[in-house]
Amino acid sequence: MSFAPSRPLDPARELAARVVDAASIVTGLTLTPDEALLRPGNARHGADFQANLAMSLGKRVGRAPRDLAAAIVEQLDVAGVAETPQVAGPGFINFRLDEAWIGAALRETADDPRLGAGAGHEPQRVVIDYSAPNIAKEMHVGHLRSTVIGDALARVLRFVGDDVVAQNHVGDWGTQFGMLIEELHEAGWSAGSDAGSLADLVALYRQAQAHFARDPAFADRARLRVVALQAGDPESVAAWRQLVAESQRYFEGVYELLGVALSANDMAGESMYNDLLPETVSELEAAGLLELDGGALCAFPDGFQNREGERMALIVRKSDGGYGYATTDLAAVRHRVRTLAAERILYVVGAPQSQHLQMVFATARAAGWIGDDVAVEHVAFGSVLGEDGKPLRTREGETVKLVALLDEAITRAADVIAERVDTRSPGGSHPLAGDRQGTGGAVDEPLARQVGIGAVKYADLSGDRVSDYLFSFDRMLALEGNTSVYLQYAHARAARVLRLAGAEPPPSPVRAREPPERALALALLQFGPTVDHVVSSLQPHRLCTYLYDIASSFSLFYEHCPILKSEDPAVRDSRLRLTWQTAEVLRRGLGLLGIEAPAQL
Ligand code: ARG
Repeated sequence: MSFAPSRPLDPARELAARVVDAASIVTGLTLTPDEALLRPGNARHGADFQANLAMSLGKRVGRAPRDLAAAIVEQLDVAGVAETPQVAGPGFINFRLDEAWIGAALRETADDPRLGAGAGHEPQRVVIDYSAPNIAKEMHVGHLRSTVIGDALARVLRFVGDDVVAQNHVGDWGTQFGMLIEELHEAGWSAGSDAGSLADLVALYRQAQAHFARDPAFADRARLRVVALQAGDPESVAAWRQLVAESQRYFEGVYELLGVALSANDMAGESMYNDLLPETVSELEAAGLLELDGGALCAFPDGFQNREGERMALIVRKSDGGYGYATTDLAAVRHRVRTLAAERILYVVGAPQSQHLQMVFATARAAGWIGDDVAVEHVAFGSVLGEDGKPLRTREGETVKLVALLDEAITRAADVIAERVDTRSPGGSHPLAGDRQGTGGAVDEPLARQVGIGAVKYADLSGDRVSDYLFSFDRMLALEGNTSVYLQYAHARAARVLRLAGAEPPPSPVRAREPPERALALALLQFGPTVDHVVSSLQPHRLCTYLYDIASSFSLFYEHCPILKSEDPAVRDSRLRLTWQTAEVLRRGLGLLGIEAPAQL
């Protein structure tokens, strides 16, 4: 039988499908590939995979598992994929993949522009709501998480062909602008004068809040200011524009530092929905979804009750006629489906807003804005904690400023790199050394940025996103363990071997014979399935864990299998191919997380 690997090139899936086909013939049951219970095998026994279905199936059909396993093997056709399967123990079926299959599958993935990811994926239009900082306020670590996770998901979905529309739902509207503008006004601001830097704006915010609290007359003027702003009063609008523009410049600076591709084009702040709010509300009203409650117009979506068992209200129009955060979110979801034609909408927002978002989604579904053909998901995340396990704060007890945090990460990364270079033995034989010569501690700034920013992002992405995580520079910049620095070093090491080899490795077949070669080769084949899993689960940490596995497998391979020094040219070429593909998977995998892979460290 001539063999052409079927896509996706996932040997586990390939084998599972064949195992359940055989088992169905033997038992007469209809089985799904999951029921093959295919697990990684024991490499020491020469098994790449093991199917464990005979044990549970034996009980179901009343047959001794070992007999059943033997009968399944009888029916099993794995020619071209694996060697003849072996029954072991109480009824395990062991598989060892064909070397030629592995070589062909690796080749096919290498030739695929997506390295085997996204096979059979139906491209979708996906709206991702992420970052969403607030005007005239500092971005905090919560916004960092939203920005980093949202950016990684945008990259992964684009990679598999989705049409991603980023929507930066910045908080640029609301009653707070009344007091901000009034405060500016009373400080002598006029259209054309400068509203100042963000630091000034933050101070202005504090000052306005205090003023509002102590001076009822000011509070009244601030309220009137909101009305004037909403009515389009030119001076108020000009002041508001300037506040927004100033904050936007600051946000863009942070995005640039982070290497996040969010631009002015992706700005879709709360104010954008102003004109849509009245019709949003009247549609809900026409659908019979609103009730007056204490003067406010509210939706009471099904399934939301407080502890006392009372229905929970989503306020759509306040008693003073104003609209709030919820109304804007309703208008936004309607806009995303109707105008942006979203088929999938992701909200990368902290876990505390879960109930708010679920109520918005339920109301939008009841209104018919979200149909069965649209998937809406809250991509929730936990808090960032300091090393004391409490929400991250400065010693003065203030929330930590994002830019200061990122700057510190870069400085510390420079130290880590400098130390690495200095402790290197003169012959360059340190296992992690690149081919940089000792530079006496001077580390170039772009490199420190790639390492420092990468570490912050990776620390944010590598844990289950719903959990809180501990922010620790020492931990995130460690050279060993599941850190971006470790991955970047592994990549640089592979890149160094390739550089020393000269030309790009010839497209000779990979012959994965030694256990470390096999392990690395099989791991490389999991890039596609892993990325696909991130697409469905929206869990970037799965990609991190995978890349860590690649880096660890590469490290073992590197230690045990001489590459450039191997005598047999076929072995040398095969190993160079493996090295090349490792570098490729690490570089592109890190790229999907928004992290760079420098060629030298
Ligand atoms: N600006 C909000 C905040 O800082 C986040 C907005 C999230 N997106 C949304 N559609 N509600 O908490």
